[in-house]
Amino acid sequence: MKVFVTYAIPEKGIELLKEKFDVDVYTGEKFLTKSELIERAKYAEAIITQLRDPIDREFISSLQKAKIIANYAVGYNNIDVQAASERRIYVTNTPGVLTEATADIAFALILSVARRIVESDKFVREGKFIGWKPKLFLGYDLYGKTLGIVGMGRIGQAVARRALGFGMKIVYYNRKRLPEEIEKEYNAQYVDLDTLIKFSDYISIHTPLTNETYHLINAERIAKMKPNAILINTARGPVVDEKALYEALRERRIAGAGFDVYENEPQLTPGLEKLDNVVLLPHIGSATYETRDKMSEMVAINVIQALEGKTPQNIVPEQKEIF
Ligand code: NAP
Ligand code: GLV
Ligand code: GLV
Repeated sequence: MKVFVTYAIPEKGIELLKEKFDVDVYTGEKFLTKSELIERAKYAEAIITQLRDPIDREFISSLQKAKIIANYAVGYNNIDVQAASERRIYVTNTPGVLTEATADIAFALILSVARRIVESDKFVREGKFIGWKPKLFLGYDLYGKTLGIVGMGRIGQAVARRALGFGMKIVYYNRKRLPEEIEKEYNAQYVDLDTLIKFSDYISIHTPLTNETYHLINAERIAKMKPNAILINTARGPVVDEKALYEALRERRIAGAGFDVYENEPQLTPGLEKLDNVVLLPHIGSATYETRDKMSEMVAINVIQALEGKTPQNIVPEQKEIF
């Protein structure tokens, strides 16, 4: 049986797969085009995909033998799950193993934007540091401030754990309120989204990208943020109206923003790169050696389970009803 891997992932999972199957890993640097992806996936029983691969209805209908599409990511907004379900192809993701690494990046962005870490580093490298000054690179406190978490799931809660250590107050918004024990654990208060927007000093996004969350943070909501607000997005770019956010940042209507993801990734809203009140990362939320190894193992386990006739352990929630 053939497993096609659309882009090289850490060896750990590949080795597990090679013990059982014929594994075709695309090892080029340049991304495959959609037609190249279709060509190479056509007769594979399993396809391991990347979050940037467009696994749409056209791609799915071209598959001749596929039993599973295993995304090397927890987010799977790149996959048309409905189309896969209609053909009884499993869709799996990698939940849990990347939670702490991604929460670390969200927190790194909070600290970097609030304390102007990147600008300060550049200043020193450029030889501009001539000595301590009372007003050099003033930023904002975290201690005592309110962090609004939009999407208090696995990663949102891991961010809350970090925030507690920094003495922050936590408010959160989800569609479903969390059980009281969990709220108590984080001393977190459930509020509606507009209240969160209005009262938070820091806002961190952790929802998946869905039809409901597209532009959840729009111009109107950005206009209601505090002037000292700092917005962090490590979820998916289109959850935020990036153009509207750019305008607010340029006009200093809010204090700053930290990006790990972009609305039209990898493109940025023109001008974003010129602002000094933003920190821009290249989608590295889960990028640690340990985490990427675990993700690699996890996709392999899912593929092995599917090809050995079992229901894979990490089928996406939408498929739990049908398998
Ligand atoms: P998760 O455990 O499923 O948490 C998602 C949270 O979002 C849940 O609490 C959910 O609560 C909430 N949510 C869903 N739809 C919502 C809506 N319409 N309005 C408000 N809240 C909503 O997922 P996770 O593992 O924490 O991952 C979250 C996302 O982070 C992933 O989907 C992925 O896109 C992104 N991510 C990015 C990176 C990176 O490299 N930057 C790494 C990992 C993950 P309710 O269902 O109650 O609404
Ligand atoms: C990364 O963005 C992921 O969804 O795993
Ligand atoms: C700063 O370095 C201080 O000692 O306050």
